[in-house]
Amino acid sequence: MAQATDGFRLEGMLLGVATAATQVEGGDVASNWSDWAARPGRISDGSTPARATDHWRRWREDTELMASLGVQVHRMSVEWARLEPRPGSWDEAVFARYRQELELLRDKGIRPLVTLHHFSHPLWFERDGGWLAPGALWVWERFVSEVVTRLGDLVAEWVTINEPNVYVTGAHVFGDFPPGHRSLREGMRVYSVLAAAHLRAYALIHALRPAPDTLVGVAHHLRPFRPGNPRNPWHRTLTRVMRHLFQDAIVRAMTTGEFTPPLRRPPGLPAQDGGPGRYADFFGLNYYSRTTVTRFDDGTPPGVPVNDLGWEVYAAGLGETARWAWETYGLPVWVTENGTCDAADAFRSRYLWEHLEVLAAVRSQGVPVDRYYHWCFVDNWEWNEGEGPRFGLVALDYDTQERTVRDSARFFAEVIRENGATAAMHARFVAGQQYPVSTAEGYRR
Ligand code: BGC
Repeated sequence: MAQATDGFRLEGMLLGVATAATQVEGGDVASNWSDWAARPGRISDGSTPARATDHWRRWREDTELMASLGVQVHRMSVEWARLEPRPGSWDEAVFARYRQELELLRDKGIRPLVTLHHFSHPLWFERDGGWLAPGALWVWERFVSEVVTRLGDLVAEWVTINEPNVYVTGAHVFGDFPPGHRSLREGMRVYSVLAAAHLRAYALIHALRPAPDTLVGVAHHLRPFRPGNPRNPWHRTLTRVMRHLFQDAIVRAMTTGEFTPPLRRPPGLPAQDGGPGRYADFFGLNYYSRTTVTRFDDGTPPGVPVNDLGWEVYAAGLGETARWAWETYGLPVWVTENGTCDAADAFRSRYLWEHLEVLAAVRSQGVPVDRYYHWCFVDNWEWNEGEGPRFGLVALDYDTQERTVRDSARFFAEVIRENGATAAMHARFVAGQQYPVSTAEGYRR
């Protein structure tokens, strides 16, 4: 496919970077993930989140680097296990440390978007039964209320839960996230609890900090699904089923409060009076790739462009999912994550160009995409893939903790400064960049 090189405009959109606490902070934290990573064989390279990018201590340096690149918005998360090391007891020093970081962001003119649950929670919560424990929602609300009460003067934008679908499928269906369970039925139960957790957190945060000064949403992972062979009725059916189970049902429950099977409205939620409600102020969209369905997995056919992890690069899908979110729910779309794994920085600028260009196009057609947070800032700890995958605009040497700004970061900084991109920028940063191409390995027709 010939690439458009003329450029695009992004006026009115705020651009920045995204991270998550467990992936960057480091340190000795009693969370579900440090416990999981300590078990042999769970993390591909045997690493743990204890070192990560050492951001817990290097937050000043990182924030200054972010500011020097012109970053306008920063999505980060707080580590529940640090804030509440024992049930109901709060660590004052940890709150103070987050306040310092948030104050520096404010002073640098960078607007924070703070996630409350990004795949990790205290080990005591996990051991008590996690989201399936009878008191889970109450414990969660206590946490949300404490954080928003103490940080709400510095944070006006919240994501309650990151990628409920990736979390549930990893933790409860495929078993590669803690607690490592493999049960579709259990996964569906956890979905319902997480939906309730969001609905209640939405109401709670706004009771403490009303809209529109404070905005609340969810970061949903969306992907286009397509049948491997459109003439194969099994592929077509499975495509619909997977799409419903992976994203449509959970997105609907969290955005409108309507639970469609197999999700069920958990007891303890106030009954809905008349029609769907609205439980989000923006639609948080995390977009990476697309799934080609021939069986119950993340299929990628041979011959398509992919990143270092073999995920299909399909920029048009960002436009398709953003448009779907807008047309279905009528909320402004914030791209709360988008990025790629590219250790050599061989195609990240091209990836950025293509995805931002798609956003410029859908915006010109009336889809209000107001934010873009690139995943991620400094290379960080990639869950069960460990320290190997490189998603950062900034390269990290884990041994020395040295940060090195990549060319793609320079390109992104220029896009932010120019409010778009030009043909000259294409020539300097993008021209000649090529993606790897997928092989037939692991793909069943
Ligand atoms: C998650 C991030 C993760 C990224 C890249 C998203 O699913 O929210 O935590 O690092 O994708 O895999």
